[in-house]
Amino acid sequence: MAKLSVQDIDLKGKRAFVRIDFNVPFKDGVIGDDTRIQAAIPTITYALTHGATVILASHFGRPKGKVVPELSLRPIGEHLARLVGRTVTFATDCIGPAAAAAVKQAQADGNNLVLLENLRFHPEESANDPEFARQLAALADVYVDDAFGVTHRAHASVAAITKFLQPAVAGMQLEEELRYLGKALESPERPFVTIVGGAKVSDKLGVVENLLHRADRVLIGGAMAYTFLKARNVPVGRSLVEKDWLEPARAIMRYADGVGIRFELPVDHVVTDRIEAGAPHETLFIGDTAIDDRMGVDIGSATVKIYGALLADAKTVVWNGPMGVFEIDDFAAGTTGIAKAVANVKGTTIIGGGDSVAAVKKAGVADRITHISVGGGASLDYLGGRRLPGVEALTNR
Ligand code: 3PG
Repeated sequence: MAKLSVQDIDLKGKRAFVRIDFNVPFKDGVIGDDTRIQAAIPTITYALTHGATVILASHFGRPKGKVVPELSLRPIGEHLARLVGRTVTFATDCIGPAAAAAVKQAQADGNNLVLLENLRFHPEESANDPEFARQLAALADVYVDDAFGVTHRAHASVAAITKFLQPAVAGMQLEEELRYLGKALESPERPFVTIVGGAKVSDKLGVVENLLHRADRVLIGGAMAYTFLKARNVPVGRSLVEKDWLEPARAIMRYADGVGIRFELPVDHVVTDRIEAGAPHETLFIGDTAIDDRMGVDIGSATVKIYGALLADAKTVVWNGPMGVFEIDDFAAGTTGIAKAVANVKGTTIIGGGDSVAAVKKAGVADRITHISVGGGASLDYLGGRRLPGVEALTNR
């Protein structure tokens, strides 16, 4: 059911609790990639220009309910302030007097923008604790969820808070995610091609199964391909195989054969004896016993060509998971080749979070992708057909 949007409600003079996902890669004081922060700006700007006091709340890492100074959101707030060109008042706690005082301060100063400290410094956040949620809710008049990346978690600031703070509406990034991913799942323009990669079948089986019922072609890459290949008795050397998943892999291939969906596995691959830059490697056809005890780390150029041809006339593409160990340049050509093929597609192209986003960025084609999801686990869950507690909790239209 459609949810109320931040654009549907009156924000004038209201304090808006805006849940965002500022869980960004961060090392030695430097933000590795600020896509998630950038993605929240339309909703922040919209709420500010419509007269709200904006109270931003996020988790950052997994501090396990304790104060971990390295996981403070303060430096993220400073980055946000530079991006929006406005002071961000930082609250040293997400509940209680420090949070309330920061809100009053931001209103008195007229910047009307507050960032609360890491929600997960309190164990009650991940426990979806109602009393903690009530304290968060006490700061505001309306609830806005713009944190797609955490909608798969039933946490206090995502789920329980909506019991105390209504209306609970979707922010613009969240709406965009649901619009693109939802359309791909429910009424995709065809041909609908899905590419699934990454290391483990066990992480992606739900996605493969769910998309198999919807897509016209499924292209498999990454280490997860080896469980499928092994299930077909192909020699795979020391490539990663999840033995417990051989039978489910067989069942998927049987299903695809039965209903006539093209379920494609790589025809060639790059093999090496160790995953490190500069390691000797060569390209072999799949099935070539010369793999010996080496392992596959990327799809080969023949596979890129075949997959490229299967993508050429696509009207919808959903891609989740890289085709190999693309972080190492020697093993990145397959992923880069697919990224370029996806970028050339005339239809709607959707990249489903996590590593695949880094891959399209590395290939330099991110600006030619229709929609890049900011959700890692959340987009996997959504594409896998699972319920998202953070979306369910929002107010119906
Ligand atoms: C993510 O990075 O996928 C989200 O921010 C959720 O983080 P989590 O897996 O620690 O809940």
